[in-house]
Amino acid sequence: MTGGHDVALDLDDIQSGALHERPSPYVGQYVLLRIDDRAAGRELVRRLLSVVDHGRPSSEPRHGAWVTVAFTYQGLKALGVPNDSLDSFAPEFQQGMAARAVELGDVGESSPARWEKPLGSPEVHVALAALSPDAARLQAAVEKMRRAHQELSGVDVIWAQDCYQLPTGRTSFGFKDGIGQPTVEGSGMPPSNPKEKPIKAGEIILGYPDETGELPPMPSPDVLGRNGTYIVFRKLHTKVAAYRQYLRAKAANREEEALLGAKMVGRWQSGAPLVLAPERDDPKLGADRRRHNDFLYADDLRGLKCPAGAHARRANPRDALDAEGSVNVRLHRMIRRGTSYGPALPEGVLEDDGAERGIIFVFAGAHLKRQFEFVKTQWLNDGIFIGAPTEKDPLVGPRDGAGSFTIPTQPIRRRLQQMPPFVVTRGGEYCFAPGLRAMRWLAELQT
Ligand code: HEM
Repeated sequence: MTGGHDVALDLDDIQSGALHERPSPYVGQYVLLRIDDRAAGRELVRRLLSVVDHGRPSSEPRHGAWVTVAFTYQGLKALGVPNDSLDSFAPEFQQGMAARAVELGDVGESSPARWEKPLGSPEVHVALAALSPDAARLQAAVEKMRRAHQELSGVDVIWAQDCYQLPTGRTSFGFKDGIGQPTVEGSGMPPSNPKEKPIKAGEIILGYPDETGELPPMPSPDVLGRNGTYIVFRKLHTKVAAYRQYLRAKAANREEEALLGAKMVGRWQSGAPLVLAPERDDPKLGADRRRHNDFLYADDLRGLKCPAGAHARRANPRDALDAEGSVNVRLHRMIRRGTSYGPALPEGVLEDDGAERGIIFVFAGAHLKRQFEFVKTQWLNDGIFIGAPTEKDPLVGPRDGAGSFTIPTQPIRRRLQQMPPFVVTRGGEYCFAPGLRAMRWLAELQT
């Protein structure tokens, strides 16, 4: 519990996956399980109670590894959660991610028919994640997870994915990631942007008032919903060679390549934001946790430093939409806990080596629809809100090869054309990470 004017968050009951900052460097593993036997599923949940991490968030490496568990709608069903309770979850969660594909832009190469099996299928019931600062402690955490499900007939591992921070500390496109995060009131997380008030706990954790002053819609019974959070995970393959080739083709030289790349993201590869470093990368700023998120967009409404269409600015326009007054950006924030998978494409290589690489995108929040889905559909997949209806997010926007991206410059703006897709969805799911009391309730179900 925290004191002062903060809302007291019941941190001992909340799984810490969402509120913990990921260690850097990190290694991790995701495991998906299927429950064929209800009693075995409940035994799994009972065992996991002593495996999952909870308590005050800490990014201290000595804290060790973090284990988080989340359930899909099908998983809750397999555990025998009563129908009236199942019906009380967010409709998008009940449908599952694959059913939302058209809405989310997961079409063509990204469509569920082409997803990696068993992602997006009704077989995915339980998602486990272990993250650790080093391989030794990861091994111990993975071992604990294994003990929770091994020799339980009726519970099977159906998918596993390793992840790790690339030696560069960056993601596959070459950029530092995970910087722009909201600070959650009462969480004990260090403030990320001194120019913004922390967001209300109910934006991320169920059972607390959110930015509207209300409690977020919460599944019933109360014990099941309280202190839980919705989790989205998406395996996103990145076409790094295509991305590099495109920049090479559009830029006059290496310096301009770096600039165009930064304009597409809103930050330089080091993480330095364009608003604070408009001309060239500033690695010191990129690495400075006190400064690298300390900015707003009000002084750059025309986007001369950071284009309105840049990925990070689309995903969190901060105060840039305040003038319109119609959108409250604070209702569309999210915690991201994404990780990298696959080998880096060595620097300078422009040919595709056929390797699978990219990001396991992970969202945590109280509102699937107005946070994850809103940002994905309205801000990343559509450009109406920035007056460029035909433009999609330059990094992650779904497109057929004819995408464009406008970079405002003086005296005339520059428009990049014929932009191919750089990211392909390999699959994903909507999950619910319950609090510890809720897990006990699930383990003790009598249905
Ligand atoms: C392969 C896919 C993706 C890549 C490579 C990627 C990369 C990045 C990078 C490099 C940044 C800037 C650094 C930072 O602030 O952390 C960023 C920021 C961000 N991205 Fe993504 N991203 C991807 C997908 C997504 C998706 C699908 C969403 C949401 C639906 C999203 C939401 C955000 C948000 C909210 C921010 C922070 C903006 C801020 O607070 O300034 N990203 N991303």
